[in-house]
Amino acid sequence: MPTRQPQSPTGVYIITTVGDEEVHAFVPAPLPPDPPLNIDGAMITALDAASRALGRFDGAVRYLPNKGLLIYSYVRKEAVLSSQIEGTQSSLSDLMQHELDSAPGTPLDDVEEVSTYVAAVEHAYRQMTDPSGLPLCNRLLREAHGILLSTGRGADKRPGEFRTSQNWIGGTRPGTAAFVPPPALQAQQAISELEKFLHADDELPPLVRAGLAHVQFETIHPFLDGNGRIGRMLITLLLCDRDVLSTRAFYPSLYFKHHRSDYYDLLNRVRTEGVWNEWLLFFLEGIRSTAETALETTQRLEAMAANDRRVIEERAGKSASSALRVHASLMERPVLNVETSSRLSGLSWPAVNNAMTRLCDLGIAAEVTGQRRNRIFRYSEYLKVLEEGTEPL
Ligand SMILES: Nc1ncnc2c1ncn2[C@@H]1O[C@H](COP(=O)(O)OP(=O)(O)O)[C@@H](O)[C@H]1O
Ligand SMILES: [Mg+2]
Repeated sequence: MPTRQPQSPTGVYIITTVGDEEVHAFVPAPLPPDPPLNIDGAMITALDAASRALGRFDGAVRYLPNKGLLIYSYVRKEAVLSSQIEGTQSSLSDLMQHELDSAPGTPLDDVEEVSTYVAAVEHAYRQMTDPSGLPLCNRLLREAHGILLSTGRGADKRPGEFRTSQNWIGGTRPGTAAFVPPPALQAQQAISELEKFLHADDELPPLVRAGLAHVQFETIHPFLDGNGRIGRMLITLLLCDRDVLSTRAFYPSLYFKHHRSDYYDLLNRVRTEGVWNEWLLFFLEGIRSTAETALETTQRLEAMAANDRRVIEERAGKSASSALRVHASLMERPVLNVETSSRLSGLSWPAVNNAMTRLCDLGIAAEVTGQRRNRIFRYSEYLKVLEEGTEPL
């Protein structure tokens, strides 16, 4: 039984009973931090670097003629990465293939979970950008959660509802847990406070607000499951809400995945040591490096597509014009079947088949399945670039 009451600079522990065990549950103080953040030289430099990198990336995406493709791809990349952080095994091509209704190979639960992540973020974004839709608020997060956990193993974790029971992180029971979040009642109060902070009309830079909100969300752990994924989705949604991002095409989980132990360590140490500055420096560096990688990736993908179009024009002979249209369909859906390509390109099935054969000969497309019916093709090099960073942990 715990004896000594732990202390925290960023909240209070309260004793609660779970089963017949007494545990210290942590209730974070509302944001913004008190005492106020110390926005020192290091923080200003990091903030400036992150803002500039994000601005460059967003500017590049904003003016792309085919930005729909990048949004499609990057939303899915984030879905894969954020789900991987907690051990879900599904690759980007598994996901894209699953969306064509045929997913041999991967455990269905895994790929479904990633697919519902995509549906959740799309729903939230649609609401936020529809003048008569919901703004970024707790109801919207609950709706996104309802979609995220709508299938498979999420179904018994109260999808769409804040929890009404005590939860814990790590360990087999609260008494042995790494961290016990607030009791349900205090969690609901804290999440209402966080909602106010999301909307607050103050001078805090949006990136700092996103960094603080993410930790606070994880500390509150308002849901029975899916807190990591909804809390990371919140980062992108908040940046869209504050017009720092003009689209939802961003994948901050790349950095968290690669620095997972620092990520968890800092989430803990904000609570135990009040290291807001250290967390924010880590977070801002994550945003900066992800934005730079994403910009570079965007440029490589664009250059590759332009080069492939040139190769098709020079070498596809009579079938060049239909091959270009099929290539354009691969740019919309890097994993697709003849039916989808035909729908996107407006070409007949036989025409798609011929053009696709040509693209395979030129080494641009490759067949995935090897079966004769419902053949699936992929834009190989394109996917290879897109999948960088999504390797299994
Ligand atoms: N010590 C901690 N304190 C606060 N949050 C944590 C801590 N360790 C991990 N987390 C967060 O909890 C998430 C896992 O919670 P969970 O509800 O299972 O989410 P998901 O199902 O989306 O992975 C992690 O991804 C991380 O964001
Ligand atoms: Mg989980």
